[in-house]
Amino acid sequence: MKLQFHTQFVRISLVVLQLINPSLQWPEPEYSSAPIPAPWPEQFHALLYMNLSSTHLQITNLWYDWPRGRNVNIIQKQLSVLLYDTEWNNGTTFYYTLSEPHSCRIMVNDVGIPRPDFLDGAEYLGTAVTDGYLCNVWEKIDTIWYYEDVYTKRPVRWDFNDGISTHVITFDVGAVLLDDSVTQAPAYCFNQEIKNM
Ligand SMILES: *[C@@H]1O[C@H](CO)[C@@H](O)[C@H](O)[C@H]1NC(C)=O
Ligand SMILES: *[C@@H]1O[C@H](CO)[C@@H](O)[C@H](O)[C@H]1NC(C)=O
Repeated sequence: MKLQFHTQFVRISLVVLQLINPSLQWPEPEYSSAPIPAPWPEQFHALLYMNLSSTHLQITNLWYDWPRGRNVNIIQKQLSVLLYDTEWNNGTTFYYTLSEPHSCRIMVNDVGIPRPDFLDGAEYLGTAVTDGYLCNVWEKIDTIWYYEDVYTKRPVRWDFNDGISTHVITFDVGAVLLDDSVTQAPAYCFNQEIKNM
């Protein structure tokens, strides 16, 4: 009885507060059941349309492969070179071309590739229509805004805080990059300094 009275009192207080300040909301009753993003499949291929800013576009073939500890981005920048970005789970990333003009950059980080559950703990923001799809939207540590199709649970779009907006054109769960030759960093990658990301 006492508890009930207390609950009643809290509710009344909230109503009063809401009257004073209408932007105060009821505590979200089903907050704990807010949708959570589907983890990334352990292996997939996605064709990505990326808008890096108002002036740069690129098409990326993303081959995510958690069991192989490998995340390969084959990047076609608009009217420019085809760039291979091979990220390994040990923290080494190689950026290189496989044809002229030859270039290679090696970066190291201490994080490795994204884990399939890298969106765990993201904050649910609600639904929005993007690229014509009704999506659940999450934000994680002011870094990524992630849009997932409400019905199919496939990623539709994600935006990074650096202004890069990625739109998922195809999403093939289970697809694996079979041509290992393109993930082998070319000879001209070696004997050069390594940069920390
Ligand atoms: C790319 O993004 C910028 C900034 O959001 C936007 O103004 C522009 O229309 C986009 N371009 C394309 C081709 O999507
Ligand atoms: C990480 O793995 C890749 C691929 O096996 C290898 O080329 C690279 O040298 C490794 N990096 C380190 C720091 O061991």
